[in-house]
Amino acid sequence: MLKKVAILANGGDVSGFNAVIRAIVKTAENNDIECYGFIDGYNGLLKNEFVRLSTSNASSASGILPKGGSIIGSSTNSNVFHYKVKKDNGEVEYKDLSDVCVENIKKDQFDCIFTLGGDGTQKSARDFSTKGINVIGVPKTIDNDVACTDITFGYNTAVSVAAEALDRLHTTGETHHRIMVLEVMGRYAGWIALESAIAGGADIALIPEIPYDLKYVVDKINHRRKLGKNFSVIVVSEGAKPINGDIVVAGTRNNGEGVDNIKLGGIGQVVAKQLEELTGLEARNTTLGYMQRGGTPTAFDRVLSTKYGAKAMSLALEGKFGVLTVIKDGRLDSVSLEDVVGANKEIGAVSGNTEESNIRKVNMDHDLVKTARSIGICLGDDWRINK
Ligand code: F6P
Repeated sequence: MLKKVAILANGGDVSGFNAVIRAIVKTAENNDIECYGFIDGYNGLLKNEFVRLSTSNASSASGILPKGGSIIGSSTNSNVFHYKVKKDNGEVEYKDLSDVCVENIKKDQFDCIFTLGGDGTQKSARDFSTKGINVIGVPKTIDNDVACTDITFGYNTAVSVAAEALDRLHTTGETHHRIMVLEVMGRYAGWIALESAIAGGADIALIPEIPYDLKYVVDKINHRRKLGKNFSVIVVSEGAKPINGDIVVAGTRNNGEGVDNIKLGGIGQVVAKQLEELTGLEARNTTLGYMQRGGTPTAFDRVLSTKYGAKAMSLALEGKFGVLTVIKDGRLDSVSLEDVVGANKEIGAVSGNTEESNIRKVNMDHDLVKTARSIGICLGDDWRINK
């Protein structure tokens, strides 16, 4: 019998966090279960900071469906299996503090912890599951790169924001005969760039999975000029890189602490400058940044988040733990967190968006790739061959 459950939201914010929280709380209340929220993700679990969540008063989980961010906060720097601790002499060391979290969960008698987050969050969730804690994951990230699911919540809102930006950039490009570059998020997976390029009618999309060759990009732009179109619109993932080249790093995240601590950004400006020189057309870059993560979720994300939240609570009621809610072939389902973690099995091993993590990248057989190629979107390689 479940009596008391808790939610934690972890990783970069996305639109839809609150919709998931609301759905879990509502489903819990319908089953007479008390629901709590840990503050700032795994940090709250470590510090044992939590609040009661209910829909019976206006101050907590009520009226939050359209609200961006997370009412219980979130943290991008809270791997409790490898936690940064400052020693008395000022030196820094990393410690596995997960057992403190386990004790906190047991002391307060939480029957299940819902972990809302991306691959790093779910790696830790799986590690807690191995330590005997009942966990159920819900896949979040605007990058859409969590393994074993077709879609994460927050992604559709990011794509919609990027598509709207492309519509707006089109008008300036067309009016001033310019190349308009839009840099979007997507560290190691180019889903946002690819899907928004199709939604926003872009001519070129550069994604991390296909190292680009500018000669094909220039060819596409010049082809358009021959058709009398003296402008082009390009979407570039922040993690895109040229053949034989590297990603552009803007600085460090989380003060350079922990894994995956590089801050990407700048590739859009690099590409715009190079294309200006190579084509003679004026080029401008716009970096969309956190606009993609903030604000109200789309109707699609509200529904997806609600489905995920309700499913997560149903799984808990069934006693099915150690799983992630997923959408597979259009159907709401669950998969084992072991499968989500993939080969990254070792407890406490690096989590976060790294080479070891089992993230879902754009697959060359995916319908979005085929569709983009069919309509002549240049993906940084030979766009004249319909691959
Ligand atoms: O992983 C999600 C994401 O939004 C990436 O697309 C982006 O590179 C990163 O988070 C930015 O994170 P931060 O909030 O640390 O700048």
